Parts: sequence; C-alpha cells; structure tokens
Amino acid sequence: MSPPRAASSPSVRAVVAGGTSSGAGGDGPGARALVADDLSLAYGDRWVLRRLSLALPRGQTLAVIGPNGAGKSTLLRIVATLLRPTEGRLAVLGCELPREAWRLRGRIGYLGHQSLLYRDLGAEENLRFHARLFGLPGGGADRIAELLERVGLAHRAGTRVGEMSAGMVQRLAVCRAVLHEPEILALDEPLANLDPAAAETVAPLIGASSGRSRILVTHDVGAALTGADRVLALARDGSVAFEGEAAAIDAERARSVYSDALATSR
Ligand SMILES: Nc1ncnc2c1ncn2[C@@H]1O[C@H](COP(=O)(O)OP(=O)(O)O)[C@@H](O)[C@H]1O
Ligand SMILES: [Mg+2]
Repeated sequence: MSPPRAASSPSVRAVVAGGTSSGAGGDGPGARALVADDLSLAYGDRWVLRRLSLALPRGQTLAVIGPNGAGKSTLLRIVATLLRPTEGRLAVLGCELPREAWRLRGRIGYLGHQSLLYRDLGAEENLRFHARLFGLPGGGADRIAELLERVGLAHRAGTRVGEMSAGMVQRLAVCRAVLHEPEILALDEPLANLDPAAAETVAPLIGASSGRSRILVTHDVGAALTGADRVLALARDGSVAFEGEAAAIDAERARSVYSDALATSR
C-alpha cells in the first residue's frame, strides 16, 4: 500500500545537486546529514506522513513547520530511530533506517515532547544513567558537571525531576540530548517552557551555533526562515506543502501552511 498523493499539495521532490542516489548520505566529504526519499508513515491504515523527499547537507539546519497533527513529531521520531517508516527510504548520517539504526543511536541527540527523564531520580542521577547508556568514559562525570553548570542547574544537581518546574525539566532534557556530543540533533519544539533567559542558556548547546546538523520543529516561522538553512512545511494531511532553502521562501507563504489548515478544519 502507498499513501495517496494529496490533490491540494502534491509531493515535492527536493531538487538537490547530486540527487538522492546511493552513497549521497554516506560518511565521505560533502555527505548528507539526512536523505529522505518518498518517506511515508501510516498508523494503522491512516497515513500521517506522505512521500517526503529531501536532502540536508551536513552541518545545516532543517526547520520543520506545519499545523498540529501534520506529522512533525512523527517525522522526528522516525529520524531518531524510535519509529519505523512504513514506506520509502531514510538515511541519517549515512545510516539507512531502520536497518542501520544501531549505527546511528550513539550519534543522534533527540529532544521530544517527553523529557525521557526519570521523575524519581535527581538531575545528576538522570544524566549519569544516560551517560552509562551511551558508554561515556568515566561515567561522563566531567561532561555532566559542565552541562549542569551551563544550563544553570549546578546548584540543583540533587533535585528530583518530579519536583522541578517545566522549564528546569526542559533544560535538563537538553543536557540529556547533547550529553554524548551527537553529530545531529532532532529537536521537537525545544524552547517550549523556556523563558528568554533560559532559551539563551541552551542556545550554544542546541542552537545553530552548536555546529551540529539539526532538524528542528518550531512554530516560530520567523525564526525558521532566519535561523535555518532549509524549511520543510508539512500540510495538515502529512504531505509536503513545500521544501527548500529558507532564504528563498516567502514569509507569507510559510505562514499560509497554518491558515490553510484552519480553513480545511472549519
Ligand atoms: N502513536 C500514534 N498512534 C496513532 N496515531 C498517532 C500516533 N501518534 C500520532 N498520531 C497521529 O498522527 C498525526 C500526526 O501526529 P504528530 O506527528 O504528533 O503531529 P505534529 O507533531 O505535527 O503535531 C496526528 O493525527 C496524530 O493524532
Ligand atoms: Mg508535535
């Protein structure tokens, strides 16, 4: 079975020099962070991601925008190896998913709607647990201390997650996502719950200046157009509304993915 092409928003195949032929997502120079080819996902018999094709060069940021339910989080979960695509191809850092998920897991940092932290463990204990999972040398003690300091949680290292404010949990979740120095970040609305000062403290870790390849879900269309290299807009039915270089995308067009969604949901 294949997802139907939506009449209103036909599948857009990204036109990128070199195309998406085999090896394009490999580990060599000029390699791609992400290559998707007709990637689709259905929950049961309901298609929520339809025929996504794109390529993202290493070190670049792809912003993903689109209304609630468009499939943004689903896409990130596929990239983070937490979900298997139903059809099509996806390679992340040259790893073909799901076949080579094991090669990718230690190289990707995922920050989703759930913090993936244990409520009954303290901040530092949580990071120590994850450091062991990633096999960090010395249990990652130095890295953990550095990260807690950088996000302003050093003095709360012993506080249980269940007793933290949403903003503190989010800052700790950022630490967990970057603990193992991932080459690529999959970030699902990473600034949710953060005030401007807290957002600034995590920016060097997960922002464009972190130097990592990034796939970033955001509702801040202005930030997507100015802070990302490429923008993917998903329509309400999970099809690609458009995809391309951020600099070439008109702000009004970008915002239209939200107004179109409102129109069709009336
Ligand atoms: N585990 C699941 N089982 C079935 N349907 C799901 C599941 N997770 C998400 N969905 C549905 O898939 C669609 C896309 O969801 P999601 O990827 O969370 O969208 P977004 O992040 O863009 O808001 C929605 O219609 C949602 O209800
Ligand atoms: Mg979501």
